Amino acid sequence: MRILLTGGAGYIGSHTLLQLLQQQHELCVIDNFSNAAPEALSRVARLSNRHFEHHDATILDSGRLDEIFDSFQPEAVIHFAGLKAVGESDLKPLSYYEENVFGTIQLLKAMDRAKCRRIVFSSSATVYGTPHYLPYNEAHPLAPINPYGRTKYFIEEILKDWAKTDAEKAVMLLRYFNPVGAHPSGAIGEDPMGVPNNLMPFIAQVAIGRRPVLNVFGNDYDTPDGTGVRDYIHVDDLARGHAAALDYITHHTGVEAVNLGAGKGVSVLEMVKAFEQASGVSIPLHFAPRRPGDLPQFWADATKAKTLFNWEVEKSLVEMCADVWRWQSQNPHGYGDET
Ligand code: UD1
Repeated sequence: MRILLTGGAGYIGSHTLLQLLQQQHELCVIDNFSNAAPEALSRVARLSNRHFEHHDATILDSGRLDEIFDSFQPEAVIHFAGLKAVGESDLKPLSYYEENVFGTIQLLKAMDRAKCRRIVFSSSATVYGTPHYLPYNEAHPLAPINPYGRTKYFIEEILKDWAKTDAEKAVMLLRYFNPVGAHPSGAIGEDPMGVPNNLMPFIAQVAIGRRPVLNVFGNDYDTPDGTGVRDYIHVDDLARGHAAALDYITHHTGVEAVNLGAGKGVSVLEMVKAFEQASGVSIPLHFAPRRPGDLPQFWADATKAKTLFNWEVEKSLVEMCADVWRWQSQNPHGYGDET
């Protein structure tokens, strides 16, 4: 298939790109490198030994989108592009609505003009909001608690309406849990700009000596060890999930929302222990107050993905940690080492 990836140079995008190239699809990437490095694409090209098109462009630019759609003629789009920092979304909600919601509208209009009817969308478990029950299944009410989460929710609703305009349209809303890990080669991985917001890149930067100590945000939650519990999923499992979802929407029309998670909860302290085991490095901890807006715990009911397109996670917590450590130790400054 000819597949267009928006945000294909980012963390999840680059791993999915590699996966799809290895499956012999034809790929085209659009990325404006606002939170990604061109070096990631060079490394994917090297790892896959395959050529793919890429454009330094924003999805807000409908003229550029038309040019790219006209020349590449994609049969499907995987839409990763978007802003994703929860805290920043409270400070700059309009930027989030513009980039994420308006950007998606521009993309869908370009798809309509090019008669491209299939899309896989990077949604998030954050659309569920405060749990009414756990694990979250796809029928759980949607009530996101911050502007970032609301952009994901609004885009899901827009995509549902878009799908109704043509019986041949096919939409897959993939609700990611907490993606971590890196490609086992150590050549590509997560390279956040500035101070990492998320747990795993922070642990990795403490381990490599870029940060002195991990702040554990809250140890008084109603969880087995008092620290926050999340459903961590290896980014390569997530990438395989996209390939499986894409295959599904080439044979089915309409809209489906599907959780991509491991289906089990892991606490901050369990994650730190697994990372110490995998790396042999000890991680200094400081118990800090709860981070505003954090939920105590959540994890996925991941059975729908298994039923619908026979996908489930394969990689363990130790593999996630070992792969992050390989990436971090081979690239102490991320892609900055070579660019
Ligand atoms: C965060 C976002 C979520 C987004 C997801 C993407 C927030 C509030 N939520 O989720 O919307 O979809 O990233 O991956 O930012 N922790 C620490 N110390 C740290 C960092 C994190 O103790 O330095 C704890 C957190 O309190 C939490 C767990 O680690 O219990 C996971 O945090 P994080 O990796 O930021 O993910 P989420 O909060 O689940």
